[in-house]
Amino acid sequence: MEGTSAVVVDQLTVHRGGNVVLDSVTCQVAAGSITGLLGPSGSGKSTLIRSIVGVQRVSSGTVQVLGKPAGSKSLRSLIGYVTQAPSVYADLSVRENLRYFAAIMGASPSDVDGAILAVGLKDKSVALVSRLSGGQRTRVSLAAALLGSPPVLVLDEPTVGLDPVLRRDLWEMFHELAGRGTTLLVSSHVMDEADRCSDLLLLREGKVMAQGAPVAIRDRTNTHDLESAFLALIDSEEAMAR
Ligand SMILES: Nc1ncnc2c1ncn2[C@@H]1O[C@H](COP(=O)(O)OP(=O)(O)OP(=O)(O)O)[C@@H](O)[C@H]1O
Ligand SMILES: [Mg+2]
Repeated sequence: MEGTSAVVVDQLTVHRGGNVVLDSVTCQVAAGSITGLLGPSGSGKSTLIRSIVGVQRVSSGTVQVLGKPAGSKSLRSLIGYVTQAPSVYADLSVRENLRYFAAIMGASPSDVDGAILAVGLKDKSVALVSRLSGGQRTRVSLAAALLGSPPVLVLDEPTVGLDPVLRRDLWEMFHELAGRGTTLLVSSHVMDEADRCSDLLLLREGKVMAQGAPVAIRDRTNTHDLESAFLALIDSEEAMAR
């Protein structure tokens, strides 16, 4: 699959609340990559993710996932999506939630325990979600997205509220999944996560500022870390606009 794109976004423009929130965005997510979607709060990360998952009304442009238009029915079982706010039932246990999601997604019930294990919630599997911490709830949502082993995972800020050890464990899991051929698009506004990605997409005010490998973006901006690279890109854009 090397060299092929799992997601192709072409000149995508989206309006929300009367404002342009994505402005002619063109980008790709390489198959088998971990692509980090980074940008400040309000830059359009969730909107781009929603467009890829096919739940966002778009004004113009196209989004293709695995060669099909975003939102196609056949893509439903091929994309695992974790929304920014955990979307699981508080009055069900971890395992009950996952059994329920497995049933509606047509995933095998035997996937449930593997997904619980993968997110490190084995000792909480019979606990009600209402009794879990925020980070644990996030992981239940993540486990739900893993059911059925979809080839594409789209994760909107999956590591918010997690401690460093858990964040590291989850990133290891993302790398294992990518190693087995899963394509991951992971949004974050924490720049220190960017270096864990094979490819980066930097958004600012609804526009793509840069796309490429972390090392390439650092080299291009002559910086040592991605936070500085991001700021250097903003400075050069502003200098050009003057
Ligand atoms: N339901 C909505 N109605 C109107 N405008 C919205 C809506 N949701 C988001 N927006 C606007 O769209 C823009 C992009 O929002 P989006 O949620 O995509 O940003 P984000 O990069 O995901 O931010 P964050 O890091 O805070 O999650 C923001 O200016 C926001 O105010
Ligand atoms: Mg968001």
